[in-house]
Amino acid sequence: MSSKKDWFTDWFNTKYYHILYQHRDDYEAQVFMTNLVKYLEIPKGNSILDLACGKGRHSIFLNSLEYKVTGADLSINSIKHASESKNESLDFIVQDMRLPFPVKVDAVFNLFTSFGYFADDTEDIRVIENIKNSLNKNGVAVIDYLNVQKTIENLIPNETIFLDDIEFQISKEVKNDFIIKKIEFTVEGKYHNYYERVKCLTLERFEKIISAAGLKIKNTFGDYNLHSYDRENSNRLILIIAE
Ligand SMILES: C[S@@+](CC[C@H](N)C(=O)[O-])C[C@H]1O[C@@H](n2cnc3c(N)ncnc32)[C@H](O)[C@@H]1O
Repeated sequence: MSSKKDWFTDWFNTKYYHILYQHRDDYEAQVFMTNLVKYLEIPKGNSILDLACGKGRHSIFLNSLEYKVTGADLSINSIKHASESKNESLDFIVQDMRLPFPVKVDAVFNLFTSFGYFADDTEDIRVIENIKNSLNKNGVAVIDYLNVQKTIENLIPNETIFLDDIEFQISKEVKNDFIIKKIEFTVEGKYHNYYERVKCLTLERFEKIISAAGLKIKNTFGDYNLHSYDRENSNRLILIIAE
């Protein structure tokens, strides 16, 4: 399975990931979660697993809506940070999504492109199986992924982004079934380079992976306001999944 050298173990555990993605903020999480729980009609008091929760921006807000929430993530630093918000109905755990989850819940949310990292499709199927096994009867799962078609069509090969006094050089390409984003910067004279790699998973490919794990896609949305998914124009591919 994983080795310590997996890119997602390193990059997401750095402070630089959080600097680069600071626009993916609490407000965005709150809009999306408000719309999602309303659409799903999840009763207050139900339990939700925020799978790959990062620093917990969705978990913390869901908990404020009176859900029992467990946030799970591979990044030790992110879980340490999120754990500062723990309470009796909000827990955070270090968890690799490829291993069975230690909780049973009414809903599993996998948010903001926290899927499609693994080279082998059988690992993606295993993640969905883990989700299935952690769901209570009539449970629901949600995967919020990027819209691969639109992302590829609009790919900016090279750009420079200045954030918190850091000049990030970003380059992107599509190679061997993955969208690869290379991130380079220098801090206090030290050169850093990381990359992100997410699989070109279209709706059709998701259907195969999800049905191989024994679940089905019940609905799709194309953004955080839950407009319909449109392959040409949507920014996101949001999947509503159940038995
Ligand atoms: C793009 S971030 C999204 C974080 C969070 N959902 C958010 O919206 O802020 C992806 C997250 O997936 C986590 N992750 C990567 N590989 C993982 C794995 N194998 N198991 C669990 N979490 C993983 C990373 O540590 C990171 O926090």
